[in-house]
Amino acid sequence: MKMLKGKVAVITGAARGIGKTIAMEYARSGADLAISDLKMDKTLEAAAREMAQTGARVLPFASDAASFDDAQQFIDSVVDEFGRVDVLVNNAGITRDNLLMRMSEDDFDLVMKVNLKSVFNLTKAVQRTMLKQRSGSIINMASVVGLQGNAGQANYAASKSGIIGFTKSVAQELGSRNIRCNAVAPGFIVTEMTGELDDKVRDDWISTIPLKREGTPQDVANVCVFLASQLSEYVTGQTISVDGGLNR
Ligand code: NAI
Repeated sequence: MKMLKGKVAVITGAARGIGKTIAMEYARSGADLAISDLKMDKTLEAAAREMAQTGARVLPFASDAASFDDAQQFIDSVVDEFGRVDVLVNNAGITRDNLLMRMSEDDFDLVMKVNLKSVFNLTKAVQRTMLKQRSGSIINMASVVGLQGNAGQANYAASKSGIIGFTKSVAQELGSRNIRCNAVAPGFIVTEMTGELDDKVRDDWISTIPLKREGTPQDVANVCVFLASQLSEYVTGQTISVDGGLNR
């Protein structure tokens, strides 16, 4: 079913991993896309070509989500090209894990800037367009770690908890204009980010998950289609866990 037909979606950090899978699923669901990543390289260009094979119009952009000016220029170009923005997925994110004892100030600041400030940057940039349209769906990528914390990830957990507070506030501010804002909190999803874990760590994680398997980017993308579509038109300010039941 083409649930996103006629919609224009912006997805950050979409050259690979969860962002790429969300963008692919949006394209299959009928949306046109503006996808961004840090560099305009073969990976981003190939991702855009793959998505365009669905018949979607797909434009790739090099844009640093952590930069306020980049985010504004990116969205200005999207509005010039497509005339509207219906869906924004703030997906770009990084980890710089370490115990607090060893965590540097730079690693704290960088994670906050890329994971949390980027959400502010892009949301500010689309706000005017969505207000004019009197519609929009903003989807922010949080994490189970933002709900529960995790030893060795104080910076990452703080950034993801911050996203949840930001999401709830924006939902309250913009709800009267029919702009929705929700967060998705994935659990243990297999991507390049988690692929480096050794087997023992991976098995330990899986044993704690009620559904007894790791998640896939597709599991996350499916929920993101729901949040972008009319099926969720009465859902805002929520954090939806996609974690096999990990968060209780
Ligand atoms: P990934 O590392 O595979 O992909 C992230 C993409 O974002 C990369 O293409 C990277 O180049 C891009 N990116 C990084 N910094 C950027 C910036 N400043 N501007 C634009 N693009 C930037 O990561 P993955 O696993 O696909 O994660 C995507 C999101 O999901 C992240 O926000 C992550 O925190 C979140 N998440 C991932 C989980 C997992 O288990 N993989 C679990 C929970 C949340």
